[in-house]
Amino acid sequence: MAVGIFDSGLGGLTVLDAAQKRLPDVPFVYYADSAHAPYGVRTADDIYELTVKATQTLFDAGCDLVILACNTASAAALRRMQESWVPADKRVLGVFVPLIEALTERSWGDNSPPREVDVKHVALFATPATVSSRAFQRELAFRAVGVDVEAQACGGVVDAIEDGDMILAEALVNSHVDALKRKMPQPDAAILGCTHYPLMQSQFQAALGDNVKVYSQANLVAESLADYLDRRPEMLGGGETKYLTSGDPKQVSQRAVQFMRRQITFESA
Ligand code: DGL
Repeated sequence: MAVGIFDSGLGGLTVLDAAQKRLPDVPFVYYADSAHAPYGVRTADDIYELTVKATQTLFDAGCDLVILACNTASAAALRRMQESWVPADKRVLGVFVPLIEALTERSWGDNSPPREVDVKHVALFATPATVSSRAFQRELAFRAVGVDVEAQACGGVVDAIEDGDMILAEALVNSHVDALKRKMPQPDAAILGCTHYPLMQSQFQAALGDNVKVYSQANLVAESLADYLDRRPEMLGGGETKYLTSGDPKQVSQRAVQFMRRQITFESA
């Protein structure tokens, strides 16, 4: 009964890494649906079908709790899965809510009415599917009033990162930040709303400037998982950490090593 962590590809490893540092005794099963990545350019129905299948793979691997460490899946599929698919004895959580709670200075489970918060102009960088779902704006509206959100769909960045082409990824980040700034010249906060983007965090920060606070998810999600497991210890169990993929395990392992700069060995799901 390890905790399952899912992403379309390697981006969720940024969340896994933070979770492993925060919870060193917890075993995790990571699943990368590399055969179908990227999700960010797919339709909502397609993302739903793929995310259900991937989550089932993690349930079958013995996980009772699965974290969708993928904003695209969290935005396009999570609500529908929770409403109509997740079995009563399993839990599936996303990566959006911890981020929005941090942005709106709320603690977990604070369901009080939306209120004014410090940030007023927020730039959201995410995949095209996450941006078109408007899930971020919806979750934010439950918690805050008076926040202006400008979203930038960052086409191509995930593919470049998955292909290990960091020069292209950096060029794309610069051009997406320029495009955002034409719509919102002075954001006070920026959300990296894709789990691949922490790898480009310094490029985002440099392009945005030092006066923009950049929120990245990995540590926020790890903290929120620790808090959840404190309240629901029955979701925690034994087992061993392992890495599964629907893609070619050898190729995915090589990319993962480049990506995380440590040995990670994937096996076929
Ligand atoms: N890392 C994912 C996300 O957070 C997925 C990107 C993709 O597959 O397009 O959105």
